[in-house]
Amino acid sequence: MIPLSHPTVSRLLTIMDQKNHWAYPSLTRPGLSRAQLLVHFQHEYAVYVRDFPVLLARALGQVPDVPDVRRALAENLYEEQTGGLSKSAPHPELFLRMMEGLGYERALFAEPIVSRGLHEAARAYTSFLREKSAEAPWQAAAALLTIFVEGSVNERAELAGTYARAKGDAAVARHSLVVNYGCPPEAMQLVRAHGDVEGGHRDDAWRIVLDHTPDDVTKIVVETCMEALARWHRYRDGVASLMGLTPASVAAA
Ligand SMILES: [Fe+2]
Repeated sequence: MIPLSHPTVSRLLTIMDQKNHWAYPSLTRPGLSRAQLLVHFQHEYAVYVRDFPVLLARALGQVPDVPDVRRALAENLYEEQTGGLSKSAPHPELFLRMMEGLGYERALFAEPIVSRGLHEAARAYTSFLREKSAEAPWQAAAALLTIFVEGSVNERAELAGTYARAKGDAAVARHSLVVNYGCPPEAMQLVRAHGDVEGGHRDDAWRIVLDHTPDDVTKIVVETCMEALARWHRYRDGVASLMGLTPASVAAA
């Protein structure tokens, strides 16, 4: 069990509580056009989905002789780049299959097309991830990727055991892309793979912070995640503006 009252856990959870955006409700209900959805997904793909395994590899490349951390990151990297644990496929590939299920051609996600329309704040967030994942201290790189990027606003409730991510067929059947946007359930292997393996990775992520982060490094871990949150909000604001959404239009819909 991860102790929620631990001072570092508590500070990081306060950050995760804020990983929420005013435009999110529009993604979990019908009403977006194909063009609006495409802007959102092209951003997600180019900003962190496509290169997430490589970001993990950059963080792993910095870890000193701490076998359980190396192992946890290697296992996460293996799943992300091969789908070997969930017996599926590389997660970036699963993402593209989901896009095809929605009716978007793969070519829309190839370089340089996918990067051409990126919002400036999206570029800034993605370069931040790339730099920090290869920068000391390694604990900050690992926490940035495995807690901040892979985690969600539900992190606190998940750790407390009051929220369980939907898994398997249930997760797919109730997913907004299936319910509201006509994606066939067979194209949703990414959601299935995450349901299968992510639980174990959440625990590993927090263990790194709890068991391997000296007090003087904790501050940098927290500051890195705080900066990530600020950059992530600017990124999401940027995507929302490219989608033509405003807080008023989202609230009124
Ligand atoms: Fe993944």
